[in-house]
Amino acid sequence: MRMILVGPPGAGKGTQASSLVEKYSIPHISTGDMLRAAVKGRTELGRQADDFMKSGGLVPDDLVIAMVVERIGKDDCASGFMLDGFPRTRPQAEALDLALRDAKVALDVVLLIEVPDELVVERVTGRRSDPETGAIYHMTFNPPPPDIAGRVVQRKDDTEEASNKRLEKYHSETAPIIPFYEEKGVLRRVDGVGTPAEVAERIIQALS
Ligand code: AP5
Repeated sequence: MRMILVGPPGAGKGTQASSLVEKYSIPHISTGDMLRAAVKGRTELGRQADDFMKSGGLVPDDLVIAMVVERIGKDDCASGFMLDGFPRTRPQAEALDLALRDAKVALDVVLLIEVPDELVVERVTGRRSDPETGAIYHMTFNPPPPDIAGRVVQRKDDTEEASNKRLEKYHSETAPIIPFYEEKGVLRRVDGVGTPAEVAERIIQALS
């Protein structure tokens, strides 16, 4: 299964990805996670990406494309992968297309999780994650259990200001890739409003 997860910030891509990658036994390739690891590890890529990410902007295409093309060329991606947060611009979508054509493989599905703008800021600013396990929580919708609550962390870009900018970038840069995949006949839309379990059920229906 070669799959892409698309949606606005806070749509629930990371939340839904964990069970899907287990179901299909494919690696979860989140460009946000890869970039955050590069920032934390103080690599050259991380140094270049940090300011763009903190402000809610997009990291330049050339940096992200090189990172993803290298990652999907690894052995564990030979029979599939889930891309989460990539592509996010038309040049990224075209670069991915080219890389897959060169490898003589095709995408199976692009899953779009749709959530209205008014829900995004609340979901994003309430998010916390467990640095030990990577589990995602929400202070209102899915609070961390007491033994974990003391160690959860908030992302630097999960402020109201940065999430509004991320939303703007989603509409101006990412939403235009949707027709690109619609024309290819691989797009599936899923309503992301409801409990995570309800959304997961809709995803299973959309993929069957
Ligand atoms: P990235 O990490 O990809 O962030 P994002 O796309 O903004 O998505 P999020 O991680 O915010 O949201 P999500 O959809 O995964 O939601 P989640 O499941 O956590 O990118 C971060 C940055 O990196 C970008 O801004 C950019 O700078 C850079 N970057 C990354 N990729 C790039 C690329 N390709 N090109 C250029 N730059 C790139 O859920 C959110 C919250 O809501 C959680 O608290 C969760 O518990 C809660 N929640 C989830 N589902 C539900 C539900 N159904 N009901 C109620 N609450 C829910």
